[in-house]
Amino acid sequence: MTQVTNTVRFVLDGRIVEAQGERRTTTVLDYLREQLQRTGSKEGCAEGDCGACVVLVGELNAAGTGVDYVPSNACIQLLPTLDGKSLKTIESLKRADGSLHPVQDAMLSCHGSQCGFCTPGIVMSLTGLLQTVAAPTREQITNALSGNLCRCTGYKPIVEATLTASQAGAAQLKLDDGADLTLLQQIRRARTPSYNLEGEIVVQPVVRTRKGNEFVSPATVAEVAQYLLQHPQATLLAGSTEIGLQVNKQFARPEHIVSLGNVTELRQVQSAATSWRIGAQVSLTQVEQVVAQAYPDFAEVLRRFGSPPIRSTATLAGNIANGSPIGDSMPCLMALGATLLLRRGETTRTLALDSFYTGQKKNVLQAGEFIEAIDLPKPTPGSVFRAHKVSKRFDQDISATCCALSYTLRGGQLAQVKLAYNGLTPWPSRAPKLESLLQGRAPGEVSAQALDAAIAASFTARDGLRATWAYRALVARNLVLQFLEEAPSRSDASKEVLA
Ligand SMILES: Cc1cc2nc3c(=O)[nH]c(=O)nc-3n(C[C@H](O)[C@H](O)[C@H](O)COP(=O)(O)OP(=O)(O)OC[C@H]3O[C@@H](n4cnc5c(N)ncnc54)[C@H](O)[C@@H]3O)c2cc1C
Ligand code: FES
Ligand code: FES
Repeated sequence: MTQVTNTVRFVLDGRIVEAQGERRTTTVLDYLREQLQRTGSKEGCAEGDCGACVVLVGELNAAGTGVDYVPSNACIQLLPTLDGKSLKTIESLKRADGSLHPVQDAMLSCHGSQCGFCTPGIVMSLTGLLQTVAAPTREQITNALSGNLCRCTGYKPIVEATLTASQAGAAQLKLDDGADLTLLQQIRRARTPSYNLEGEIVVQPVVRTRKGNEFVSPATVAEVAQYLLQHPQATLLAGSTEIGLQVNKQFARPEHIVSLGNVTELRQVQSAATSWRIGAQVSLTQVEQVVAQAYPDFAEVLRRFGSPPIRSTATLAGNIANGSPIGDSMPCLMALGATLLLRRGETTRTLALDSFYTGQKKNVLQAGEFIEAIDLPKPTPGSVFRAHKVSKRFDQDISATCCALSYTLRGGQLAQVKLAYNGLTPWPSRAPKLESLLQGRAPGEVSAQALDAAIAASFTARDGLRATWAYRALVARNLVLQFLEEAPSRSDASKEVLA
């Protein structure tokens, strides 16, 4: 049971740090730089884009025998989320004998740094990669670097430095965390709720201010549900990749924050015969792995979602609840027929994602209700799913539009068509007029002119910051044409149905 209030406890290089009297919205980066004088981690953008602040956040693995690390943008993570975890910063890499980590050594010898502002974040991203992939490919390295902007060195020497460092071998590359293990066990957060004498759940705060504002971090769904009934205006915190921006850029100071990060039930993916149930706190990195084989296009959209530190914390539920017009997961989920499991108190209901939104950034959630899980259907024989995100840059950029299409071929004709977009409407949505146009036709029978007419009849022409309407409409049409042109041949499709 977590008894301590207003103290955030985390492990830093073999010692327990007790952060007392901090605000519930203090960021990890501000705490590191201002209270611990660990100024190696830099603040470039304070919005998760540049990667100068990347640190590694560790948690005991399931067996309690080691620490699993994820890269994280310290600028948008709130300090109380560290309670019960460990942290590695650029300062953690220096060895007891004063020698450098192989990544630092290789950055020097390969001339991977000039002004050096981006370097700590880059070194931490690469060290994180090398904890799990001791001999990475160039592709894995560039993917790991996709959330780190370097303006003066250029990436070639940095990639070379990673390849050089990887020759040191797993033992040399491993973070020095032997002393952290027992300390992590000591500060491990409770796994069960606390009850008062009346047998009611009492949610213990991690931080409570003198004004009574709180940051709570429950362990169970029941606690989350109970707390939200008592505090329906509380802000749910999942991966913090939206909330962190609101705190830094709009100076948001939610009175009550409910972190879902420690709710084990919400961090699980359950695989049933026909669907996956993806808990609200499952990271996009995990979702990418779940869908990689069944829906490679969805996995590719997720691989281009933000950057590794963003994906290691951000969630599908956060993307859905946030409801941005250019949210990337929603077109894919809608085309795949995903449904939401919503909970308020002990009552749950299921709802198709395409019925969730009621307006721009508005949805059907009632006071005290939250998304518990997302149910994602598995592929059925003969079903085809295609998706593609169009943006100015390939990595770490916002969609001009993302289009997702699912269908089956029956006797060579399109059936069970679901087509969804982001970027064309005030919230991601399906395109029923285009679906009707496709339904019952052979893929080769759908013309560009008919699609153009259906697009003009479906959407209000609107130029945006990311793209003009003319461009978006053209891309919206061409993606469908491309998906249809690449449709499996009739014989391939029938083989799949028989399989
Ligand atoms: C650098 C950067 C790059 C990004 N790139 C992309 C991108 O490529 N594509 C894209 O679509 N988005 C992108 N985003 C936006 C953001 O990462 C996503 O919207 C993300 O999925 C939000 O999830 P989260 O878990 O971090 O949400 P949080 O920030 O924790 O929460 C977001 C909102 O959802 C609510 N919420 C969270 N969980 C629940 C729940 N279970 N039930 C009800 N409400 C809930 C919160 O209260 C809050 O209002 C980017 C953001 C950043 C900072
Ligand atoms: S300071 Fe730019 S990502 Fe954190
Ligand atoms: S070394 Fe200057 S920004 Fe990368």
